[in-house]
Amino acid sequence: MEVGEPMQPVRHTHIRCRGNTLLYFGGCDYHRLTGHPRILAAIATGLRRYGLSMAASRCTTGNHKIYGQLEAQLARFFAAETAILTNSGYVTNLMLAQALQGEFSHVLLDERAHVSLLDAAVLLQCPVWRFAHRHVAGLTAALRRCGRRARPLVLTDGLYAGDGSIAPLAGYLKQLPQTGLLVVDDAHGAGTVGATGRGSLEAERVPPDRIVQTITLSKAFGVYGGAILAPRRVADKVRQSHLFVGSTPLPLPLAHAAITALRLLANDRRRLLRLAANTERVKARLRANGFPHCEFPGPVVPVQLRSLQANAQLKAALIARKILPPFLKYPGSPARGYFRFVISSAHTKGQLDQLTETLIPFSPLTVR
Ligand SMILES: Cc1ncc(COP(=O)(O)O)c(C=O)c1O
Repeated sequence: MEVGEPMQPVRHTHIRCRGNTLLYFGGCDYHRLTGHPRILAAIATGLRRYGLSMAASRCTTGNHKIYGQLEAQLARFFAAETAILTNSGYVTNLMLAQALQGEFSHVLLDERAHVSLLDAAVLLQCPVWRFAHRHVAGLTAALRRCGRRARPLVLTDGLYAGDGSIAPLAGYLKQLPQTGLLVVDDAHGAGTVGATGRGSLEAERVPPDRIVQTITLSKAFGVYGGAILAPRRVADKVRQSHLFVGSTPLPLPLAHAAITALRLLANDRRRLLRLAANTERVKARLRANGFPHCEFPGPVVPVQLRSLQANAQLKAALIARKILPPFLKYPGSPARGYFRFVISSAHTKGQLDQLTETLIPFSPLTVR
């Protein structure tokens, strides 16, 4: 894979790229908090008040009260028993897998799970089987093959970033034996779906008892870092993992800003409501025009066209309407690439309609 074009965010909804300012439906800053004045102020205050880093592991001389405060706020926001801060979303899955090494007999992995879960699966040091994407019957069959004495660990994304779909967590939990555990990488669901922004678990109305939810602070929360939200018995093990014990925690100003981000989302539900309304505004019209995958609730609109020529025509149409074409090739996405439009709570109705009107004349590929 190649690195993408360098670009610079402008006024929340635009991007400066190759000298042009274009309307932006990319990235994962779902509430555009990365440039929010209160987040920026919290980083500046945090830096002044605490400095940059403790320069040591939390298990030696590197702990700081701000980490405990952030973890308490995260646990409260997500209604989890315990939250453990990590350096990134990717690290959440690796740290959790390190901590759970040797505890499970089988790993069952959704075939389209994020690459960080693939890496985590290897760390668990037991057979890894894939099941069909978002398929309860597929998981059920795999669980049956594990045998009666199995201790299975199921790994899935919560909200799939490729198309905005949510894993059928309630169905998975029903099939999971008491000896099993479900790990939900909710990097994209946290802060975007569920009545209070708790993510896929809330959207699917499942209790957290037999689930570990891993999240990132770099998408809907607009900061950086990650967290593992887990029952206490799992969290105690995570704190013994090499990654937790042997690394310097998140820079202090970022931890301080993450507390502000949680407050912004918790105290004002209008962001969540706007995100849902904006998403539905685009998807409803595209659905009516035969675009597939627009029934999913996540703020992502995937568009795959029938030919390379059609892709080139849509890119030209988008640029003509001053919209950046977010054309991606990413692990797990269609091999020829596709357009992935990301809706934010900051987009205006006019901007959303500008996107929809540009897309409607194109005829999408309906099978993926
Ligand atoms: C599903 C999923 N999990 C984990 C990550 C990693 O999160 P982070 O970028 O915070 O490391 C990403 C990031 O793109 C993701 O999409």
